[in-house]
Amino acid sequence: LSDGPLKGKHILVTSGPTHEPIDPVRYIANRSSGQQGSAIAAALRDLGARVTFVTGPATTPPPPGVTVVAVETAREMLAAVEAALPADAAVFAAAVADWRVKSEAGQKMKKQAGAPLPVLEFTENPDILATISRHAQRPALVVGFAAETETVIAHAQAKRARKGCDWIVANDVSPATGIMGGGENAVHLISDGGVEDWPRLPKPEVARRLADRIAQELA
Ligand code: C5P
Repeated sequence: LSDGPLKGKHILVTSGPTHEPIDPVRYIANRSSGQQGSAIAAALRDLGARVTFVTGPATTPPPPGVTVVAVETAREMLAAVEAALPADAAVFAAAVADWRVKSEAGQKMKKQAGAPLPVLEFTENPDILATISRHAQRPALVVGFAAETETVIAHAQAKRARKGCDWIVANDVSPATGIMGGGENAVHLISDGGVEDWPRLPKPEVARRLADRIAQELA
């Protein structure tokens, strides 16, 4: 562990997508690459934090020097996060599936000539950020993300209140921005104090700025 301003602090980071099973061979997923989450974990590590990195099946590898907990589903991610508490801060960068299939088929669903098409019924996944924001062992600083495609700041401010977190890192993930899966991010940091607009930056640089802010806050 480096001797930085976060030495002695334990920080939890969630990252990547979740996979929600349909049957033993099929799942529902999303386009999260895990790049921003991995970069945040690396930046916190570089400031000396002990980082627990709870990641769904992301295409970006986890950074070295952090404790990696690999999960697939939202329910597994929640369990892993709760098991990692207490923490001084938590950053929820994962793109958790909002819904999962209500009853996962025990066997591969078969295509049969003439049979009706399958219909998937969904149920809501646990909201990990909201759960931890109201947890008995709530970290002193809870940071959520808000990936939006319209009315980014208003939606993110409402999300901050609804989820009960301290900060929201809001970004526009409209396809035209190239942010989802791309190497850059343009974020707004929303806190009690208002809204800060950060310039469009490489994801590692967004991560370093966020880690610096977290270090200031925990100091
Ligand atoms: O509601 P929405 O998915 O837009 O909220 C995004 C924020 O909430 C992110 O920080 C994400 O990691 C977190 N989240 C979560 N569990 C969920 C859904 C979202 O932790 N089930």
